[in-house]
Amino acid sequence: MLSNASLEELLDVVRPLIGEGHVADYIPALANVNPNQLGIAVCLANGDVFTAGDATERFSIQSISKVFALTAALTRFSEDELWTRVGREPSGQAFNSLIQLEFEKGKPRNPFINAGALVVADMLQSRLSAPKQRMLELLRKLANSTDIYIDHDVASSEFEHMARNAAIAYLMKSHGNFNNDVETVLQSYFSYCAINMNCVELATAFSFLAKKGLPCHRNKSLVNERCTRRLNALLATCGLYDESGDFAFRVGMPAKSGVGGGIVAVIPGELTVCVWSPELNESGNSLVGTAALELFSERFGHSIF
Ligand code: DON
Repeated sequence: MLSNASLEELLDVVRPLIGEGHVADYIPALANVNPNQLGIAVCLANGDVFTAGDATERFSIQSISKVFALTAALTRFSEDELWTRVGREPSGQAFNSLIQLEFEKGKPRNPFINAGALVVADMLQSRLSAPKQRMLELLRKLANSTDIYIDHDVASSEFEHMARNAAIAYLMKSHGNFNNDVETVLQSYFSYCAINMNCVELATAFSFLAKKGLPCHRNKSLVNERCTRRLNALLATCGLYDESGDFAFRVGMPAKSGVGGGIVAVIPGELTVCVWSPELNESGNSLVGTAALELFSERFGHSIF
């Protein structure tokens, strides 16, 4: 049965895998994170939360922010406007790959690879006067926490090492799929990635995806049921980059990962679960986090398949 104790026990099973992955160091400010941290939080559809390990320790949400940015864009643009600029197919490439973008004339495969998230950030830049502030407000509301901030050291570290993301954005600009000043959009994008949250806040913030668009602790839907279903479909097919197929096979839950070591997964109608362990596997997804979710789905019988 799901309880804090059963989650603690689950973490004990996967903890010995710590040491088999590598902390992301291409963003220097992330390289110093203590790799021994491990946390999990489950948020049920009724708002009850179960936790174990370092569930209240904040970490860099990184690409998990791409889900919130996409959701924000879907509330401000028509689906046509969005899907003419970014696709909805798995990329089969690394999350920061440039190669496909050149072949496919500057249209990214999906909103969860870096190229797609940069297009979404570009769209938000066009519609919002203060995009970073709006993103923080959205997350504080969804997570039911006023204590969520941007880690400016991480954002600056990403900005100083922007070459690959800048190349992606300029390539899209050359194809006419990027409207704003590249560095201005990169600053917003890096700030979204550099938001710090913990497992409890992330599981709570994803709850709208388990509840047909209605976030826990709120009485108004963020998006409608159809849009929620579509977001979950994108998570299931593209949320773990080039490992989305293997993750579906092993875990069976729509999910989104980030290079900070967080993964948030959804069982529509039932729950959301966030795990965090900073060491990554070769695809850039949390190694121990994936193992923890695999065991979670096995032990508690949760899978969408
Ligand atoms: O732009 C980047 O490379 C990072 N800010 C985000 C990458 C990320 O989290 C990919 N995740 N697995």
